Amino acid sequence: MLRDNALKGKTILVTGGGTGLGKSMATYFSSLGANVAIFSRKMPVLEAAAKEIEEKTGGSVLPVTGDVRDYESIERLLETVVAKYGQVDVLVNNAAGNFVSPTERLSHRAFESVIGIVLQGTTNCTLALGKYWIKNKIKGNVLSITTTYAWTGSGYVVPSACAKAGVLAMTRSLAVEWGKKYGIRCNAIAPGPFPTEGAWSNLLPGDLEKKFSPENKIPVGRYGDHQELANLAAYLVSDFAAYVNGEVITIDGGEWLQGAGEFNDFSVVTDEMWDMFASMRGK
Ligand code: HXC
Ligand code: NAP
Repeated sequence: MLRDNALKGKTILVTGGGTGLGKSMATYFSSLGANVAIFSRKMPVLEAAAKEIEEKTGGSVLPVTGDVRDYESIERLLETVVAKYGQVDVLVNNAAGNFVSPTERLSHRAFESVIGIVLQGTTNCTLALGKYWIKNKIKGNVLSITTTYAWTGSGYVVPSACAKAGVLAMTRSLAVEWGKKYGIRCNAIAPGPFPTEGAWSNLLPGDLEKKFSPENKIPVGRYGDHQELANLAAYLVSDFAAYVNGEVITIDGGEWLQGAGEFNDFSVVTDEMWDMFASMRGK
């Protein structure tokens, strides 16, 4: 979507960048000229992804291993990326953990796990990068991947809903606090369903996938394409979006609004039925 080299000269750190949507964003950032660092717990996955992206784009991708829940591992990550590329310009908070379950069946450790990865992991990375940017007078920017149930809430994924709501609150809060004082922008993307191995295996196990029909649930009638999300992410982290700050952009084909609108289910009413209602009113 963006022109060639639109991200040249930038170094972008993508947490969870070795799989799924993180990998798709990392690939597109790299193809637009950015240096990319990808960070997660599994080095073999990261190394394979870095190699694949480099072969595809001709860019440079640095795999770094660690856990977003561990602040010291974020500090080590930052040192490693700065040593390799000179500085870091953009943080993409993408790493996440999630599972689908009736809430009362969860242990408190299950809650801690998801909130630890999604909320604490995001605040850890944002705090470490923010301190670094402020100290070095770099006008960095943060893009956090949240979801539409950050504001609607959702049963059966309650730890994730709590954590993603916190990520959205952090985004809007820091957009003002750090935007005003340091020129650091913070934005978020709220994706609807985009097929990935991680999301599908954790959220739609077994036959649940068959029960989730995009043609009924989503006004545009399909799942999202990874490149569609990567396009939006690349725009938001680029200088073209310099006036976008504190925003959350939904990319879900209209899914959450379909669920929210009082009369939206009336799409099942046929033309013949509408004609009949009109004749009952005498029109
Ligand atoms: C209930 C579970 C569970 C499950 C683990 N636990 N899986 N409880 N249902 N499916 C419990 C464990 O029993 C344990 O509690 C506690 O959680 C911690 O388990 P660990 O295995 O130690 O967890 P951890 O290493 O922290 O791993 C995190 C993870 C894992 C979330 C469990 O799945 C993971 O890392 N996933 C990353 C990929 C992912 O989830 N991607 C999906 C993002 S999609 P006890 O009490 O037994 O010790 C997304 C999109 C949403 O967010 C929107 C879609 C439209
Ligand atoms: P995914 O492939 O499972 O991505 C999750 C990534 O996070 C993995 O690469 C994982 O790598 C990493 N990760 C997990 N725990 C970590 C930890 N403690 N420290 C560091 N990295 C960790 O899932 P995805 O579908 O692409 O999701 C990406 C983002 O989009 C998430 O924020 C998700 O909530 C959001 N989202 C996705 C959808 C969708 O439909 N796919 C919809 C809405 C929002 P390791 O296991 O190697 O650590």
